Amino acid sequence: MCGIFAYAGPGNCAEVIINGLKSLEYRGYDSWGIALKTKNNIELKKSVGKVSEATELEAVKAYAGIGHTRWATHGNVSIENSHPHTDSEKRIYVVHNGIIENVAELRKFVSGDRFYSKTDTEIIPKLIARLLNRYSFPAAVKEVVGKLRGNFAFVAIDRDSNYLVAARNGSPIVAALNRNKFYISSDLQSLVPYTDKAFLMNDGEMAIYNLDDSSVEFYNFLDRKEIIKVQENYSVQFGDCRRGDFKHFMLKEIFEQPVRLRQTFEVNVTDFDIRFAQPLGAGIFKDINRIVIIACGTSWHAGLVAEYWLESLVRMPVEVEYASEFRYRSPVLSADTLIIAISQSGETADTIAGIKEAKELGARVLSVCNVPGSTIARISDATVFTQAGPEIGVASTKAFTTQLEMLFLLTLYLAQYRQKISPKDVINYLKNLAEIPEKMERVLGKTEQIIKIMEAHYTVSNALFLGRGVNYPIALEGALKLKEISYIHAEGYPAAEMKHGPIALIDRHMPTVFICIRDQSYEKVLSNIQEVKARNGIVIAVANDNDKRITELADHVIFIPETIVELSPFLTVVPLQMLAYYIADKRGCDIDKPRNLAKSVTVE
Ligand code: F6R
Repeated sequence: MCGIFAYAGPGNCAEVIINGLKSLEYRGYDSWGIALKTKNNIELKKSVGKVSEATELEAVKAYAGIGHTRWATHGNVSIENSHPHTDSEKRIYVVHNGIIENVAELRKFVSGDRFYSKTDTEIIPKLIARLLNRYSFPAAVKEVVGKLRGNFAFVAIDRDSNYLVAARNGSPIVAALNRNKFYISSDLQSLVPYTDKAFLMNDGEMAIYNLDDSSVEFYNFLDRKEIIKVQENYSVQFGDCRRGDFKHFMLKEIFEQPVRLRQTFEVNVTDFDIRFAQPLGAGIFKDINRIVIIACGTSWHAGLVAEYWLESLVRMPVEVEYASEFRYRSPVLSADTLIIAISQSGETADTIAGIKEAKELGARVLSVCNVPGSTIARISDATVFTQAGPEIGVASTKAFTTQLEMLFLLTLYLAQYRQKISPKDVINYLKNLAEIPEKMERVLGKTEQIIKIMEAHYTVSNALFLGRGVNYPIALEGALKLKEISYIHAEGYPAAEMKHGPIALIDRHMPTVFICIRDQSYEKVLSNIQEVKARNGIVIAVANDNDKRITELADHVIFIPETIVELSPFLTVVPLQMLAYYIADKRGCDIDKPRNLAKSVTVE
């Protein structure tokens, strides 16, 4: 989704902002732009496509500037629609993330102004400019921000006064001051090269930076009050943001999973006793009788896996909802409902909206999140953090498996809390969990075989993914991975559902990927495989080591080590991630930045 990076201070402003925008590239974008404030003017550059080196900009002697990567929402991909946007006098320049919902209504305040873009953003500089005959630039922004409806974050700069102003309402933005260098970004991670402290801005807050004396003030535009904010330390490992020798971030992140799982385990488990790194707070599980999990995309798949675990080990009713649907259908919640919100980024707009709705209805919210300081972490009653480190590839991999690990730990913890499990069983589960990283390394060692399978089938147009029980969500995840990075149409289904429709698609061109481990459904899945073979379909199976029966049936078998059934998703998902990756690579796809996708979906 759109990204914002702004800088004021010494050095080459253009270079700092361009580097900032490049660090936001992983979020997904289709055009970009930058406005640089010089002594008497503002220099503007906008472009469609990737952020270039922009050498002509680096020659501009600027002391502040704002930059933006745009992922089109209102208006097509074009230079006119890319940010920054300005007013008729070209005095105020604005970059903006999110959506202003009341543009039609606001247009009456700027009648006579000509609009050059189809965006909702252009209204902001035009509204600010209209007030400059009565107000200073910061005061004009304060007036305007109160009129805007919707979720937004924006930064504005003025040609004629020395301020940089940022405002947040529903879309993330952070600011950081390191001596006389001031940064604003939509993404904490992009500040890592410059500082390890930042002002984590809340909804309703504005930052007003004075370029003359390098001071920053904060203001709450909802309460209309000055506020005091201090910078907070945040921890993101810069080394984690590098691709190293891997061809893509996604591949690096797939191979990083065992390390990340070990880390997540070590941080939260001591001597086979679950002691979460972040205290959950005494009341979070008290008197709960029902759990509703909300999430989107891959995180939603992690929630589906957790549903199996929670129901079987905690014996509590669990529902898993797409956050986007949950919010809009009058959910029935009460004080005995625990919401578990799952989000890698902590900034997914639908999940944030779902949490807010749930809290209003009196439910408690526990989040599983990868980004400390993110909106979701801050608005939840309690948060447990995955130790995935920054995930740069748009397709989620290591965030997913570390989410699974945290959800399994939460399941055991809650089962213990409700006395549904013996201490001996908890230790046994944890021992099995501790063995997963090493077993996963063995799966990662199957690269050559997976590349061979890829070579045989990378040209297909459709694929089916089938699994049962705890591996049904993994079939969904395998299909999602393949479609989002290789653009092959793929569907995931519970294996038994095949006969109720998808079987019609099977022919000799159509691969079906079966997750067929030795669990209670094993025989039934073997029958499903036979049904596909009887229709000349291609079968790729993920099965347990030494399974001779499957070798006789499937065209290709990727063997994975044995583990307890509950934990099998950690191992079955990895070959599916790898298969999707190698197929997409062979097809020449832009794996880390698939078309139309954004890493963090900050609009509803
Ligand atoms: C798919 C993928 C997305 C995200 C979804 C939710 O590979 O990454 O489906 O899982 O956009 O994002 P988070 O977890 O950041 O809320």
